[in-house]
Amino acid sequence: MSVEHGIARLKEVLAEARHETGKVIIGQHDVIEKALIAIFTGNHALIEGVPGVAKTLLVRTLAHVLGCEFARIQFTPDLMPADITGTTIFNLQRNDFSLIKGPIFTSFLIADEINRAPAKTQSALLQAMQERRVTIDRDTYPLPANFTVFATQNPIEYEGTYPLPEAQKDRFMLKITMKPPDRAEELALAQRTMTKDAPETLLMQGAVRPVMQAEDFAALRESLALIVIREELAGYLVDIVRATRQHESVLVGAGPRATQSLIMASRANAAVSGRDFVTPDDIKAMALPVLEHRLILRPEFEIEGLTVAEVIEQVLQQIAVPR
Ligand SMILES: Nc1ncnc2c1ncn2[C@@H]1O[C@H](COP(=O)(O)OP(=O)(O)OP(=O)(O)O)[C@@H](O)[C@H]1O
Ligand SMILES: [Mg+2]
Repeated sequence: MSVEHGIARLKEVLAEARHETGKVIIGQHDVIEKALIAIFTGNHALIEGVPGVAKTLLVRTLAHVLGCEFARIQFTPDLMPADITGTTIFNLQRNDFSLIKGPIFTSFLIADEINRAPAKTQSALLQAMQERRVTIDRDTYPLPANFTVFATQNPIEYEGTYPLPEAQKDRFMLKITMKPPDRAEELALAQRTMTKDAPETLLMQGAVRPVMQAEDFAALRESLALIVIREELAGYLVDIVRATRQHESVLVGAGPRATQSLIMASRANAAVSGRDFVTPDDIKAMALPVLEHRLILRPEFEIEGLTVAEVIEQVLQQIAVPR
């Protein structure tokens, strides 16, 4: 396949995926785009939003549209690592051990309320995310090629939760914030709810078309790597990440993984927007979702009410855009 053809096919698949997903999910256009960016770059995403904003429905719909398997794990205080990864049991008939694979062996995995499980269970998931394989009773098994974790967090409930340590949040490429629908969107949801166009009904009755197969990912990802980023823009991007470490109100800035994530996300954002090259606006648009969950403010600034989003905005104002 020629280079131009590969990129054209990638842009076509992304446009069709947005369209098909938008048949089920009302509004949330930027959320759909960010989820596609995490998936097509082979990364994982944190999804933050109050109950009922369609976090689960979004991932289920994307799995269907992109031809991938889907599973969900509800994290609870008593969830054990083996509940995620699986276990070997002794099979009396065969007089041998057999493997019972856990729910992690899927393509798109929703880890619901990840901060309800204790650290040991969280780190079993995070290790699998990093290594793309799982060790069960000393044997190692690879995870499916398109293994993508969407970990959800409720932004308001902190009681009885185990917040993810910063080092583990760093493993998520993006944080996707899902806001409640605006009035017109909520009205559309209300009107569709009792009809055959209800979001779940459309998904279940085949009104939404898969736009690709899971096996197509490898070639599409190769095309994504051909999206051009000019050298000056790579410098601009690096300066943004580095400035988060120097900002007076920041205690812990973004590490080099953030730089890698921002490069990948900016390229994918260009492709989602139908371009073959990265612009400064791609980098600016991705700075907040890539950086927000990685920064910790100094307590004295946090008490004054400063937010990480504001700090990132200041950094973007401060760094000159190359011409
Ligand atoms: N933007 C939207 N588009 C389509 N359906 C929506 C939207 N927002 C909410 N819904 C509807 O709200 C219901 C809840 O969706 P879902 O279960 O995916 O939410 P959730 O965010 O996963 O909630 P929870 O945090 O409780 O798991 C679904 O039945 C869905 O039809
Ligand atoms: Mg849910």
